[in-house]
Amino acid sequence: MIDPEVQKNRSTTHEINSLIINRWSPRSFVPEEIGDTELFSLFEAARWAPSSSNSQPWRFIYAKRNSKNWNDLFNLLVDFNKQWCANASVLVVIVSRKNFEHNGQPSITHQFDTGSAWENLAIQAVSQGLVTHAMAGFDYEKAREDLEVPVDFEVVAMIAIGKKGLKEKLSPELQTREIPNTRKPLSEIVMEGKFGNKVEHHD
Ligand SMILES: Cc1cc2nc3c(=O)[nH]c(=O)nc-3n(C[C@H](O)[C@H](O)[C@H](O)COP(=O)(O)O)c2cc1C
Repeated sequence: MIDPEVQKNRSTTHEINSLIINRWSPRSFVPEEIGDTELFSLFEAARWAPSSSNSQPWRFIYAKRNSKNWNDLFNLLVDFNKQWCANASVLVVIVSRKNFEHNGQPSITHQFDTGSAWENLAIQAVSQGLVTHAMAGFDYEKAREDLEVPVDFEVVAMIAIGKKGLKEKLSPELQTREIPNTRKPLSEIVMEGKFGNKVEHHD
């Protein structure tokens, strides 16, 4: 079922699974902890993503709120993200192995593979009534140093995970952005046969 708030703001031109459209990235979280059972189902979903040669380059470094590791991850964030991530239940740094384990050759698609794993996690979160929010707004070098990420791995992104809170709990500026956003039309992103070939009838 499509969430009423999503229904008001997003529309699809073709039928899709409601889990996909219901996923969005809010910034208001209820400042509560989540248990390992809930959290590890998210990592389990990520684990089943496809990857080149089944190389599974994704790695997830997490910290739960009120845990000893929380500040190490929280302190990586830029101030803009700190203001709303303070209430998240879990922060995760996603890193990705750049070379194949079996032959040491560079994997052209490791970030693509790791992106698939992140989306699996995000969709699983929707199914569990949780929300996720990916971030590039953090100090990548500090993440590598503070979390002791080996050189074979690239720091890709961070995510905040939690329970969606009330919009009213955010600052006025963030409240204006607390709304499911939309997307480019299919006619702009899908091309038949050659770059630039439009398929107008799909919108
Ligand atoms: C790789 C990546 C980095 C992002 N970085 C940030 C960020 O630093 N801060 C933030 O508030 N949102 C960030 N976002 C959230 C995007 O703005 C958001 O996903 C996009 O607007 C689409 O909206 P939706 O996720 O609600 O569908 C990021 C998303 C992705 C995928």
